[in-house]
Amino acid sequence: MPPLVFMAIAWLLPRFIQCQTQDQVEALYNNLLNGQNKNMRPAVNHAYPTDVNVSFELFQILDVDEVMGKLTISGLLKMEWYDHRMRWNPIDYGGVFTINVPSFATWKPDLVLTEPIDNAFAFGYMQNWVNVRYLYDGMAIFAPSEVLSSACDITVTYYPFDTQICEINLYPWGINKHEIVLNTYTTEVSKSIFSENAEWMLDKTETLTGVMFDTFYFYRVVLYLKRRPTFVIVNVVLPIFFMSVLNVLVFFLPASSGERVSFAITVLLAIAFFMTIVNDTLPKSSNPIPTICYLLLGSLVLSTFIVMMTIFNLRIYHRPAEQPLSKMYLAIAFSARRCRRRSFRCQSKRIKADAVTEIDLSKENAITNRRASDEDAIKWSSAHNNKRRADDATASAYEDYADLEDVNWKTVSEALDSIGIVISTVWVVSLTIAIIVMVTAYS
Ligand SMILES: *[C@@H]1O[C@H](CO)[C@@H](O)[C@H](O)[C@H]1NC(C)=O
Repeated sequence: MPPLVFMAIAWLLPRFIQCQTQDQVEALYNNLLNGQNKNMRPAVNHAYPTDVNVSFELFQILDVDEVMGKLTISGLLKMEWYDHRMRWNPIDYGGVFTINVPSFATWKPDLVLTEPIDNAFAFGYMQNWVNVRYLYDGMAIFAPSEVLSSACDITVTYYPFDTQICEINLYPWGINKHEIVLNTYTTEVSKSIFSENAEWMLDKTETLTGVMFDTFYFYRVVLYLKRRPTFVIVNVVLPIFFMSVLNVLVFFLPASSGERVSFAITVLLAIAFFMTIVNDTLPKSSNPIPTICYLLLGSLVLSTFIVMMTIFNLRIYHRPAEQPLSKMYLAIAFSARRCRRRSFRCQSKRIKADAVTEIDLSKENAITNRRASDEDAIKWSSAHNNKRRADDATASAYEDYADLEDVNWKTVSEALDSIGIVISTVWVVSLTIAIIVMVTAYS
């Protein structure tokens, strides 16, 4: 008969037969426990092992410690077995079907964590007052609850988008597979009174039993935990991103305003200060280090680069106009100008127009000359070719240095600003892409 039916009968029967006296229940208790050695496991034939059915009820995920590699949960372990010494005939005891016996007074399986973080105690050892319930056919139910701290390797590489798989293993310490057999008839933990953790989401669970080292049985609870990343995104990733964007704006600030360095330094300080605060929420793990730490470092590096760039740029901006520009600065100014194109295109049109008129003039000259002699004509042709080659060379040189008088230290400074904008925008964009890739790949 299933236990529920027993319970129903046990509850109903005394209400019709009023004969379960105190004496009868005490006599039952004494008769059952008298002469029983609670240190010996129950088995009719000790050549066979004692079967214990186990299942787990998870209450809460209390803590996941990334640095220590520790998982703390609270839960209830339900163990069921048959003890033939605890059988009785309910009719002899006025219809008593079930009895509670304090766990210290009777045999019970002692299951211990295989990888405990705190002291290793058998499940329910600290709660001596927890009773073992016996049914008249000898079936025992023992269900103590406990806070368990078990070792669990936690990999925070993809923090805050990480998923952790933690195992909690319980085994009967020092008792081999010929003495106790653990069975489980559920594939996952029961979560009927589970309360959610604010940081970790319980994705799925698994439970199983097996034999370890070919010597003893174990009962394993596997928890698949997924971190809720919203807190970190809102409080760490987005602020850092916006500060980086703000940082790039330094290059749009006119150098003449005299505010550049203070602005750049302020943003740098803000990022550094922010990192100090954020460090408290980040897992302090070095093996492996969370990738997000590199993202934070990336924005700090960017900010430092921008401060250096700003200072260097201001130095150039304030150089006296009469100081000649070296080739390097000219090249910077011209390449920046070429990128912008606009002024360059007008310039090249003018050069082409000049070149065309020159060629036309020389052609007319040549036509009059050709009438004079054929030899001259041949000479003209080669001369013309030479001239055209020379013209082309001049034109391209002109393209580069045509507006030499427009180039001064301020133009160089502007060019450096454009370079700074490009580099820092690329930097911020690639950091953002790195974050997005992490989000899409791990959520
Ligand atoms: C263990 O569970 C199985 C399946 O539900 C059941 O047949 C068996 O009687 C149980 N054993 C104990 C000791 O409760």
